[in-house]
Amino acid sequence: MASTDAHGPKAADPVLVPDVLVVGGGIIGLAVAWRAAQRGLRVTVLDPDPGRGANHVAAGMLAPVTELQYGEEPLLRLGIASNERYADFAAELTEASGQDVGYRRCGTLAVALDADDRAELREVHAFQRRLGLQTEWLNGRECRRLEPMLAPDVRGGTLVGGDHQVDPRRLGTALVEACRRSGVTLHRSRAARLLTENGRAVGVRAEDGVTLRAGATVVAAGSWSGDLPGLPPEARPPVRPVKGQVLRLRMETVQGPLPTPFLSRNLRAVVRGCHIYLVPRENGELVVGATMEEQGFDTTVTAGGLYELLRDARELLPGITELPLIETNAGLRPGTPDNAPLLGPTALPGLVAATGHHRNGVLLTPVTGDAIAAFLTTGQLPPEAAPFTPARFAPQLPEFTR
Ligand code: GLY
Repeated sequence: MASTDAHGPKAADPVLVPDVLVVGGGIIGLAVAWRAAQRGLRVTVLDPDPGRGANHVAAGMLAPVTELQYGEEPLLRLGIASNERYADFAAELTEASGQDVGYRRCGTLAVALDADDRAELREVHAFQRRLGLQTEWLNGRECRRLEPMLAPDVRGGTLVGGDHQVDPRRLGTALVEACRRSGVTLHRSRAARLLTENGRAVGVRAEDGVTLRAGATVVAAGSWSGDLPGLPPEARPPVRPVKGQVLRLRMETVQGPLPTPFLSRNLRAVVRGCHIYLVPRENGELVVGATMEEQGFDTTVTAGGLYELLRDARELLPGITELPLIETNAGLRPGTPDNAPLLGPTALPGLVAATGHHRNGVLLTPVTGDAIAAFLTTGQLPPEAAPFTPARFAPQLPEFTR
């Protein structure tokens, strides 16, 4: 899609200066832009290829309960809040863009293969129950009744009926179109430097030489969010890239007296301590992910990474090695020190964070769009987003201002 304003607003023309400049047009930046435009703000998104960030690699499992980690209860609440609004978000986005986003209410089965993995899953299940979450324990036979292609040695699992999926690529495409239709300007370039005046962010200079000024600048640049030249150290989002390798296969229906889908719902497992997930789409695509690697900005797909994924996937679903391999990718999750996102005001007035979503960018897209748009229009973050301001990493600073 062509830029709606290839030259961008000019500093000398106040009419063209947007209220909000979003640096980064991945699904987080686009959701912020779309929601802010719906609230009447004039918004520009700066990105060379909007809609094609880490979401292009992501599988799209929406699984706050299945992926619960000890000590991350606030993140669980944010994830549940986002998951609960996903159906409406997807429907509204489809209406606004004219494009389906592949939201599928399929549930998630997490399984264990050996005694240690089963014990770990039992612990997680007990923790989920203590928190009042909807989860059901199944023995191995019950797991195979749901998913007949599972290996005979699957020993048990949890079924979380409320953890679903969306297609992150379609999500990106639909958000670009929804933004375009709601009047968001897409400026196709990269940020070269953050501009500040009198201790306040006032926009950026883009790599194409254009200066984009705005009342508020939202940094939504994923793993690159901390690297923008001109960021004062105290306002630098503490993000780092966490590499994830993913592969895509093509499923075929298993023929027999009763033709069976190869896999009907999201499948997650711990295989000898390694975490793996498989996300089957209605169109036959099966996404298998993902490695977790601290390799800086490297996105090389390696034989070792794919070997580990396929080795573990085959233990769960022995028939997987028969499926055609369609695609391999590596993406970069924006990790933070506590694995939770950075939402809201930074230490630099005028600079707002919407980044650091780590493993949860797709899940947290609806709640992030709503929270940041609310902040941009009211100066307040909704309660579910309030624990995630960047201030938690700089407690010695006075309260941040807009
Ligand atoms: N959300 C899954 C991942 O980051 O691999």
